[in-house]
Amino acid sequence: MSHKPRVLTIDDLESYANAHLPKFARDYFNGGALDSITLRANRAAYARHWIRPRVLRDVANLNLSARAFPDGHSLPFPLCVAPAAMQKMAHPEGEAATARACGAYGTVMGLSSFSMTGLEEVKREADGTRAKAGLEGGSECVLQMYLFENRSVSEGLIWRAEAAGYKAIVLTVDTPYFGRRLTEIRNEFRVPPHLRMANFDASLGVKTGSELRTEELAKTNPSNSSAKLESGQPPNKNDPSMTWNVISYLRTVTKLPIWLKGILSVEDAELAVEYGVDAIIVSNHGGRQLDCAPPTLEVLPGIAKVINGRIPVHFDGGVRRGSDIFKALCLGADMVWIGRPALWAIAYDGENGLKLALSILEDEFRSCMGLAGCSNVKQLGPEYLMPAHPDILSKL
Ligand code: FNR
Ligand code: LAC
Repeated sequence: MSHKPRVLTIDDLESYANAHLPKFARDYFNGGALDSITLRANRAAYARHWIRPRVLRDVANLNLSARAFPDGHSLPFPLCVAPAAMQKMAHPEGEAATARACGAYGTVMGLSSFSMTGLEEVKREADGTRAKAGLEGGSECVLQMYLFENRSVSEGLIWRAEAAGYKAIVLTVDTPYFGRRLTEIRNEFRVPPHLRMANFDASLGVKTGSELRTEELAKTNPSNSSAKLESGQPPNKNDPSMTWNVISYLRTVTKLPIWLKGILSVEDAELAVEYGVDAIIVSNHGGRQLDCAPPTLEVLPGIAKVINGRIPVHFDGGVRRGSDIFKALCLGADMVWIGRPALWAIAYDGENGLKLALSILEDEFRSCMGLAGCSNVKQLGPEYLMPAHPDILSKL
């Protein structure tokens, strides 16, 4: 008999994780920057919209499926798992558990470059469970990247992702510097000594970006050498001098689609299209970067309007309920991602915990669609929402 408490909601998973994770890990996962105003605002934004249901619309058959890639798999519902660093602090199997759950569920896994499991192993795990679950084709994984000051390290990661069959490079653009997270500072947060940043870990027999680049350069000029990586540590810091030219640079490195994660303004959304990116993710990094950045749900409609279907608009921030997914789709998102819920879920029960979280959100989303009178996600639009009066919000 299982001794784990019964889980019916993402909040149940959060409570379990908070009661069982060591403080340094719990604070790292849950923390926001400074006063965590943006972190709380992300959640609060959903309550400002009522759902306006329509009736007598034949909702006997609901089509929840959506695609992350125009030519890709049909996902069971429009939800993917966002890149989050250092998942072995949540569960000993870390990113491998996340990959297995995403593979078996048939959804997309975003892998953080600060992963504690090598990107090749993550892809193998996701492929393996996808096949076991009887789903055709390989898994869909995307690699999240920071551009390091030592570009050869980033290039090596991109080449490895390409070779391993990743489907896109997700460049995070809201992190020229890391946000000031007070709980991490107070806890003097350090990566536990027994855990490694596996994508940079030469001891795993995996070639680091630096080594790949050294080999590449040595072919043309044997006197070239790159900085040696300290095994299992991120190589150096993010490059804060990065500008929009990074897109044309990345095009010289890879043929993979390039997505930008961390767009919050209509101006940057327009620039993303002008510079030819393949998709954007409207995100404030779960409130971990710029405190007082707006909640993502509030900027989404303007961004979706300016993009006007030219490229997919992905979205994350505070999604904890099926109705949150519904609202984000109504306001213009094509695809929705969860960050912390996946970490709480693997803390609860590894691969099975994340499958449970995905099934909870799918059930809630299905129920919301049916009760709102919508049979297909393509139908969703702002006409299914109406603003809640501020007076009532304070009484909820
Ligand atoms: C993140 N996020 C993140 N994003 C990214 O681009 N690279 C990364 O390495 C990480 N790491 C990371 C660690 C932890 C502990 C968290 C909570 C988040 C941000 C993540 O991809 C996503 O944008 C947010 O988590 C979405 O908000 P919610 O769903 O957590 O509210
Ligand atoms: C974070 C980084 C790793 O949010 O993106 O902790």
